[in-house]
Amino acid sequence: MGCKVRFTLALCGQICAATRGGMEIKMAKFRKIGILTSGGDAPGMNAAIRAVARKAINEGIEVIGIEEGYSGLINGYLRPLDNRAVSNIITTGGTMLYSSRCPEFKTAEGMAKAIKTCEENQIDAIVALGGDGTFRGATDLTNHGIPSIGVPCTIDNDITATEYTIGFDTAMNSVINMVGALRETCESHARCNIIEVMGRNCGMIALYAGIAAGAVAIAIPECPFDEAYAIEKFRQAREHGKRGMIGVFAEGISIDSQDKYSEAFAKKLEAQTGIETKFARLAHIVRGGSPTLRDRLHATQMGADAVSYLLDGKSNLVMAIKDGKNTAVDINYALILDRMYKNKLKDGDLDDFTEAQIAEMKQTCEYRRQKMANLYKLSFDLAK
Ligand code: ADP
Ligand code: F6P
Repeated sequence: MGCKVRFTLALCGQICAATRGGMEIKMAKFRKIGILTSGGDAPGMNAAIRAVARKAINEGIEVIGIEEGYSGLINGYLRPLDNRAVSNIITTGGTMLYSSRCPEFKTAEGMAKAIKTCEENQIDAIVALGGDGTFRGATDLTNHGIPSIGVPCTIDNDITATEYTIGFDTAMNSVINMVGALRETCESHARCNIIEVMGRNCGMIALYAGIAAGAVAIAIPECPFDEAYAIEKFRQAREHGKRGMIGVFAEGISIDSQDKYSEAFAKKLEAQTGIETKFARLAHIVRGGSPTLRDRLHATQMGADAVSYLLDGKSNLVMAIKDGKNTAVDINYALILDRMYKNKLKDGDLDDFTEAQIAEMKQTCEYRRQKMANLYKLSFDLAK
C-alpha cells in the first residue's frame, strides 16, 4: 500500500457515520487476523481479546494471538486462538497475550521483520490494543500493507479523540478503594495522607478518583496548582474539626520542575501545619485487577467493532467514544488531535484538514480542558 493517509471529510460507509478518514482496503476476505497488546497493560485488555477473537471466529476468520506486542510480531511469538483459548479471561486484568515496549519496532529493520512474520504466517490484518504509541505502530503497519486497527486500552484515559479508554474505570475504582482504606486509618489517627497516582502526563485518574474519594486537595498537570492555597485548605479543614484528610496528586505534575513533588508536598504540609502527614505512591497496583463492568462492556464492544471495520474494508482507525456513542476515527487524526490538546502541533500537521475540521478539533480540545478545569475548581470548592 505504502500510501500517505489523506484526511477527507468523506464518511467511511454506513457502519459509522462519524468516522473521519481511515483507509479503504479492497480485499476479497481476510483469512487470518492477528491481535496484540502493547505498551502499558490495562484491565479490560483480556475482554477485548476475547471479543476480537470470537467475533472474527464467528465470521469464519482464523485468529492468531501475537505475544509480547510488537516484539512478538518481530520475533514470531504466535499462537492460534480458538473460542476456548479465550474462555474465562473476561474477568481478569493484565493481558493473556503479554505486553512489551519494543523500540526495535520503530526501526526499518524491525518493521521489515514484522512484515515478514505477517507474510510467512498469512496474517492479513492486525488489531492492536494499547495507547498512542501502539497506534503509531499500527499506522506504520497499515502503511506497509498490513491493515491495522487500534483499540484504546490505557488506564490514563489520555487519548483526546476518545472520551474513554479501556482500563480507566477499573484504575479509578482501585484508587478509591485504596484511598478509602487510607482514609479510615487517617481518621483513627487524625492524620493526613498524600497519595500519588499514575496517569503519565494526564491528571484524569487523580482528578476523578480524587473527587470521588473526597480529597481535600488534588494536583494535576492540566490545572495550575496553588501550593499555599492547598495547604490552607488542609489547615482550615483541621480547624473545622476534620481528622482524617486526603490529597490525591497525579504523578505527572511538575511544580518548579521538582521531581517527586507530591512526596515533597507531604513533608511541607506537615512542617507548615503540624498535621502528621504520610505519603503513599500507589504506582502499578492500580494497573492490575479484575476489570469493572464498564471496562468489560467497552472492551467487548470496541473489540467486536474493530473486526467489523476491518471486514468492511476499513483500516488505520482507532475505536473511540464520541458524545457517548461508539465510533472510530483515523489514527493520524487521533495523534494530531493529541498534539493539539498538548499544544505540541508540528509544522504541517493541520495542512490536510479543512477549516471546519480544525474548528471541530479545537472545540474537542477546549471541551476537554474546560471539563477538567470545572471539575478541578469544584473539587476545591467542596473540600471543607
Ligand atoms: P502506549 O501504546 O501505551 O502509548 P508506548 O508509547 O510504550 O505505549 O508504545 C508501545 C509500543 O508501540 C512501543 O514500544 C513501540 O513498539 C510502538 N511504537 C511507539 N511509538 C512508535 C512509533 N513512533 N512508530 C512505530 N511504533 C511505535
Ligand atoms: O500508560 C500507563 C502507565 O501506567 C502510566 O500511567 C505510567 O506513567 C506508565 O504507564 C508506567 O509505565 P511502566 O509500566 O513502563 O513503568
